[in-house]
Amino acid sequence: MTFRTIIEPFRIHSVEPLRMTTPDERRRKIRDASYNLFSLHADDVLIDLLTDSGTGAMSRDQWAAVQHGDESYAGSPSWFRFLAAVQELFPFEHVIPTHQGRAAERILFSAVGGPGKVVPNNTHFDTTRANIEATGAEAVDLVIPEGREPRTLHPFKGNLDVGALEALLARRAADVPLVMVTVTNNSGGGQPVSLENLRALRGVCDRYRKPLFLDGCRFAENAWFIRTREPGQADRAVKDIVHDMAAVADGMTMSAKKDGLANIGGWLAMNDDALAEQCRNLLILTEGFPTYGGLAGRDLEAIAQGLAEVVDEHYLRYRIRSTEYLAQALDASGVPLVLPPGGHAVYIDARALLPHIPPLEYPGQSLAVALYEVGGIRACEIGTVMFGRHPDGSESPAPMDLVRMAIPRRTYTQSHVDYVIEVVRRVADGAKDLRGYRIAWEPKQLRHFTARFERR
Ligand code: F0G
Repeated sequence: MTFRTIIEPFRIHSVEPLRMTTPDERRRKIRDASYNLFSLHADDVLIDLLTDSGTGAMSRDQWAAVQHGDESYAGSPSWFRFLAAVQELFPFEHVIPTHQGRAAERILFSAVGGPGKVVPNNTHFDTTRANIEATGAEAVDLVIPEGREPRTLHPFKGNLDVGALEALLARRAADVPLVMVTVTNNSGGGQPVSLENLRALRGVCDRYRKPLFLDGCRFAENAWFIRTREPGQADRAVKDIVHDMAAVADGMTMSAKKDGLANIGGWLAMNDDALAEQCRNLLILTEGFPTYGGLAGRDLEAIAQGLAEVVDEHYLRYRIRSTEYLAQALDASGVPLVLPPGGHAVYIDARALLPHIPPLEYPGQSLAVALYEVGGIRACEIGTVMFGRHPDGSESPAPMDLVRMAIPRRTYTQSHVDYVIEVVRRVADGAKDLRGYRIAWEPKQLRHFTARFERR
């Protein structure tokens, strides 16, 4: 017997109070923060959808595992539990623990990047791109055309364009140290990549003798989409699908702050012995000894347990359904979204919702501030504020002006989400009265984190 309601497959064991604020208070707080949501104190936020990274709730068994944390500098039993848990899903020869995903990226690209190199990906996440560019190499995004169109439906909008990859390799094979694919494609809306696409990429990489690396941050969510959307996958265990994803790859980078279900951590893994040695040497310079890599033994334990929990099909069914639930309700109310919704977030198309605010007056910022003022919700502008300023000093509209509402794992209940739906609807109803912003001050790089805004 089945029921329509998909419930949270857990009950609450320890609660964190939310601090209620009034709209007047929030208007003052955000004005004092120069209309930058990163500058707010988090306890002035009611529902925090800034990111799904490191913000999830750990389970009873993860907190119990924390108590088993062994803080030996070298060869801790916690390290061996972590190693076994990672290799149970991703049987790579070498696993190098890091304090989070970007540390794995920095080490990998310090080893294989450099001027004249080019690294393709479906869409590089900002830290991946920044770490590649910091070495003087070029980062190129080759997602399929459907992945760039907010309202074009496609089951695997995160797929990498195989033809475009072939064309790049035909021209510049010698400059490509490796091919990367991000599962799910965060910057493209949290969209999945199919097994068929991964296998086709493997074929191209074999022909050109190039390693294929996964950015595996949201591997379990990607595996769930494969199970539910790809022909022939419906009855398979999530773990088996993860094994198939791993089998096409020669290595991976990972942020355990997402599908590790932990608050900190990550790793770099690979089969190549020489590359692993080079990476371990870099690890020791900035992260730590290769059996802890910038993490405490207790963090390694929390991740090991998190990896066992994240491939549970009841968890994944609830996880993906709760994101879809938010998206369906907003879509039914006519709020323009990136569709279909991704795994970890719902993206509102602010440019479509606020057509009277030109991109250079930051419609995404205007919407994100309104969500906070009206309902205490913190979301994240992903648009012209984030991507509009170029290294040569010029400014131009980003390809899209989106606002991302990222859903922390196992943290908010359905009534929190119902409240979010109500707030977004209220803001959308008053959209025509929202105004644009100008930037009063900005730093030279990554301006979205610290820029100060004024209302127009
Ligand atoms: N790759 C992807 C696809 C990511 O989404 C992130 C982080 C990273 C790499 C870097 O990992 O934060 O552990 O260093 N994404 C977060 C976000 C910050 O909000 O989407 P990290």
